[in-house]
Amino acid sequence: MPDGPGVTASVVAATASGLQPAIAVSGLAKRVADASGELTILHEVDFTVQKAETLAIVGASGSGKSTLLGLLAGLDTPSAGKVVLDGVDIYALDEDGRAALRKEKLGFVFQSFQLLPHLTALENVMLPLELRGAHHARESAEIMLERVGLSSRLKHYPKYLSGGEQQRVALARAFVTEPPLLFADEPTGSLDAATGEAVIRLMFELNRQHGSTLVLVTHDQAMAARCGRTITIAAGRLV
Ligand SMILES: Nc1ncnc2c1ncn2[C@@H]1O[C@H](COP(=O)(O)OP(=O)(O)OP(=O)(O)O)[C@@H](O)[C@H]1O
Ligand SMILES: [Mg+2]
Repeated sequence: MPDGPGVTASVVAATASGLQPAIAVSGLAKRVADASGELTILHEVDFTVQKAETLAIVGASGSGKSTLLGLLAGLDTPSAGKVVLDGVDIYALDEDGRAALRKEKLGFVFQSFQLLPHLTALENVMLPLELRGAHHARESAEIMLERVGLSSRLKHYPKYLSGGEQQRVALARAFVTEPPLLFADEPTGSLDAATGEAVIRLMFELNRQHGSTLVLVTHDQAMAARCGRTITIAAGRLV
């Protein structure tokens, strides 16, 4: 059925997908219950990020940056509003749908790393490849760990790695699948200047080579300055 309606529809869908922004956020808000009633962590925010754009999210501690990044990645649930990733309204999906989308499209570096404690550095980085059924998971993971300077720590468990080493394993794990969306929460927060610079180079290289859209939460003015655009959050609002 080379010319049937199904083919036409899929071509149209593919074309439309090419024109979608990578991220479209509208009316996104997060409120939680607290002792005094309700606490608003994120007031309704709206913004769009184009494909292959690099965006820095900056703001004081406690302003809502990690909350926003988690919502963009489908790791939390909003109180109101929408996050549309490459044309897909992620909170219209169920948990499984969001997990499938994350596996397919997203690399996420947590502020607290979130490595799996019972897996070695190498196994942590192999995991997203294995979940995708990739061939050569071990070789690809080794190459990525080498790029973050950890070739000599492959068999270490997270608790035997320094903070900066754990951060680099987390980065390798997020990047090893070369995802179209790369979200990182203070990716250089625990790194010395030279290692931080190497990691920043790696992230921008993936952006250039693969057209990955980069969203970085950072306190580092120099890193923010290298991004195409910066948005600032203050007390849960975009300023
Ligand atoms: N589940 C929750 N329940 C109650 N308060 C929360 C919850 N999650 C976050 N907060 C509060 O919301 C605010 C924003 O938190 P968030 O972690 O997004 O800040 P941040 O900008 O990433 O800060 P930092 O730069 O210190 O990492 C903080 O005051 C935090 O205490
Ligand atoms: Mg944070």
